[in-house]
Amino acid sequence: MTVRGTLRDAIYAVRKARLRLERRRLDYGRETRDRAERLSEILPASVAELRGYEREYEDLEWFHDTYADRVAEIHETGVAADTTHWRDGATLYVVCRALEVETAVETGVLFGSFDAHVLAAMERNGGGTLHAVDLPGGPPGRFDYGHLIPDRCRDRWELHRGDARDVVPELLEAVGPVDLFLHDSDHRLPHMRFEYETALSHLEAGGVLASHDVRLSRLFDRFTDANDLPACVVCDTGIARVSSSEGTE
Ligand SMILES: C[S@@+](CC[C@H](N)C(=O)[O-])C[C@H]1O[C@@H](n2cnc3c(N)ncnc32)[C@H](O)[C@@H]1O
Repeated sequence: MTVRGTLRDAIYAVRKARLRLERRRLDYGRETRDRAERLSEILPASVAELRGYEREYEDLEWFHDTYADRVAEIHETGVAADTTHWRDGATLYVVCRALEVETAVETGVLFGSFDAHVLAAMERNGGGTLHAVDLPGGPPGRFDYGHLIPDRCRDRWELHRGDARDVVPELLEAVGPVDLFLHDSDHRLPHMRFEYETALSHLEAGGVLASHDVRLSRLFDRFTDANDLPACVVCDTGIARVSSSEGTE
């Protein structure tokens, strides 16, 4: 590894340690309570409509039964460290319902918490495809990528194996413009920046750029400011939206 690579990894390790501390201080109850208000600032939906999608999510018994069983299964084997929390998944559920997202690309699948939530929203929308990208191989333990995805949503899910740096540009060319691009793969800054920049030129007018772990650095805020994208952060997920009157291509 080069000196620059070693330095980058060291900086990333410090950022992650700082994030762990920040998460302990963050009031997640308040974050969740404020979700609808924050999203209403950037989505074409009222607070009442967004709260309606939150309630709909809470009432999705077929989803929660499978999700809870499979989370427990993964936890029992002791390998679930990096699974994205359901409250971030719920934010994506609300976004996908409010925008009736049809075509989405996501990087970083692991057990598929985000995937399960996006796909549940597509199921309620009555259509849609989620293209998901992760490295060759699979998650730790005896599980496959996307283990948390309920069986009834699987036919809307297409897994693409490979480094996002190689796969995403061609994938976006092939399936874009997309209504949603969601980053949750390699959180080192050059990679995040690469994904944000690549995605931005392939978003549908009114589409969303979402990113997990935006509290690791100021990158998401700086990127959305520099590109004039209205944005908010709920829990650990950043949501930004391109103008609905003009695409970015
Ligand atoms: C934090 S986990 C993703 C969690 C997942 N989104 C969820 O909802 O539970 C990060 C994932 O990104 C994948 N990953 C890391 N670097 C990548 C890259 N360069 N290209 C594609 N996937 C990558 C890892 O293999 C891992 O599965």
